[in-house]
Amino acid sequence: MGMRLALLLCVLCLVVSHTHAHGSRRDLGRSSAEQAVSTSPTTCPAGLGSGNKLPLVHRLSPCSPLGSGARKPSLHETLHRDGLRLRYLSKVQQAAAAAPAPSPSATPASGLSVPATQNVISSLPGVYDYTVIAGYGTPAQPLPLYFDFSGMSNLRCKPCFSGGGAPCDLAFDPSRSSSFRSLTCGSPDCTELCSSTAPCAFTFQNSTFVFANGTVVTDTLTLSTSATFEAFAVGCLQLDNMFIGHDGVAIGNIDLSRSRHSLATRVLGSSPPGTAAFSYCLPADTDTHGFLTIAPTLSDYSNAAGVKYVPLVTNPSGPNFYYVDLVAIAINGNDLAFPPAEFRANGTMIDAQSAFTYLNPPIYAALRDEFRKAMAQYPPAPAFSDLDTCYNFTGVDKIYLPDITLRFGNGETMDLDDRQFMYFFREHLQDAFPFGCLAFGAAAEENFLGNLLGSQVQRTKEIVFDVLGSKVAFVPSRCGLR
Ligand SMILES: *[C@@H]1O[C@H](CO)[C@@H](O)[C@H](O)[C@H]1NC(C)=O
Ligand SMILES: *[C@@H]1O[C@H](CO)[C@@H](O)[C@H](O)[C@H]1NC(C)=O
Ligand SMILES: *[C@@H]1O[C@H](CO)[C@@H](O)[C@H](O)[C@H]1NC(C)=O
Ligand SMILES: *[C@@H]1O[C@H](CO)[C@@H](O)[C@H](O)[C@H]1NC(C)=O
Repeated sequence: MGMRLALLLCVLCLVVSHTHAHGSRRDLGRSSAEQAVSTSPTTCPAGLGSGNKLPLVHRLSPCSPLGSGARKPSLHETLHRDGLRLRYLSKVQQAAAAAPAPSPSATPASGLSVPATQNVISSLPGVYDYTVIAGYGTPAQPLPLYFDFSGMSNLRCKPCFSGGGAPCDLAFDPSRSSSFRSLTCGSPDCTELCSSTAPCAFTFQNSTFVFANGTVVTDTLTLSTSATFEAFAVGCLQLDNMFIGHDGVAIGNIDLSRSRHSLATRVLGSSPPGTAAFSYCLPADTDTHGFLTIAPTLSDYSNAAGVKYVPLVTNPSGPNFYYVDLVAIAINGNDLAFPPAEFRANGTMIDAQSAFTYLNPPIYAALRDEFRKAMAQYPPAPAFSDLDTCYNFTGVDKIYLPDITLRFGNGETMDLDDRQFMYFFREHLQDAFPFGCLAFGAAAEENFLGNLLGSQVQRTKEIVFDVLGSKVAFVPSRCGLR
């Protein structure tokens, strides 16, 4: 059958630039950069897709449910969200480290049973950047949802007890669905401690505050009119304080992690051999389109130009997350002086929700020092929170940036372009094009000292998650290049 969903993204992107190779350097035309964020008319997907298309939009896009009313986050807010994300990841890792290592045949620690989520889901406000319109229930109620690797899919459900960010009128209404089922405590999918006839209820809380509560339910998930998943389990949130301070675009998330209940796991269970779990493209420009594909056929990539395969590795400190085997970083062709073991020590996670890339602190310091040497001709600008390598480009016509290359354990390399490693501040300051920062920071969260590849560094490549084959493919030719 080969269910294949090519999902259109319309994206409002923060960095717009053309690059032209000049030997080992690039220049960034000021005039192209000054085109800034295009406001050209965009065709927005309306409601559920037909055929096998599922619309996916950036939350700042004119196509987002908040439309043009969506407030742009300041850089500080973006950084704050990344900080919260790191804290979340570190807590999940701590919890996993404290728990006995799951054996492969045992019930995996799904999002439904990750104890650390009690405190930490609340730490996620606004970290997600892309929403997808998916249907839940029969008939399908179209809902704006994030996609992430958090280990559990959640929806805000009616009746709503109190407001986080999402308005209750967007929430899922179980009473209007004929296929809605509540799980009971006795169900194997319910990991909560409760009596066997009661609904499978959960509460996320710390000692002083309840972030959310709800029940685990199942219903039909509809990605498009031709792709549905019956009895898809989600946390149906009654009390939802998780997204306080969030823009309130989405009413939940679809989990694509390795968790037993994730959509990725479900897709793999029902797909023919030779199928990847999913792929996505996060384009770097406003006027290029990206996509999310569920269950893409692997042979489709064998002839794609520039495709590179990198092993996906598992990491006991985050068994539901996706890690790659990063072993070196080169700047202008010279590897930073760290052995592969140093890069591998705490792993390199791929995360679609943090904006920037975070490195183990000594590795980041070495990259920063080399970058500063290569950028010595430009006046520095003040640091902004986690981004401490910033420049004042006022009056500069062309910016010459060093090359940055990621090297992986199987010998593959990824050359980053400036749209992947530079963050320009057009959006946040009055000036047209005054500042830019290296979009990398130190993973300074005390329990997250590994590396994390954020969404910006993944832009311009289609990223194919071949979970069964334990590899991830980076496909530059199919992702939003102009
Ligand atoms: C519980 O979480 C709330 C909200 O984030 C926070 O204000 C409070 O300090 C936390 N309590 C403890 C004991 O950590
Ligand atoms: C969630 O909290 C509200 C308000 O305290 C309560 O009325 C409701 O029963 C709780 N729901 C669950 C599933 O625990
Ligand atoms: C950036 O440089 C311009 C031109 O030299 C200067 O006028 C401006 O004050 C600088 N801005 C900051 C924040 O340093
Ligand atoms: C790995 O993380 C632990 C804490 O989680 C830290 O103590 C250790 O220094 C880290 N290793 C490296 C090489 O950064």
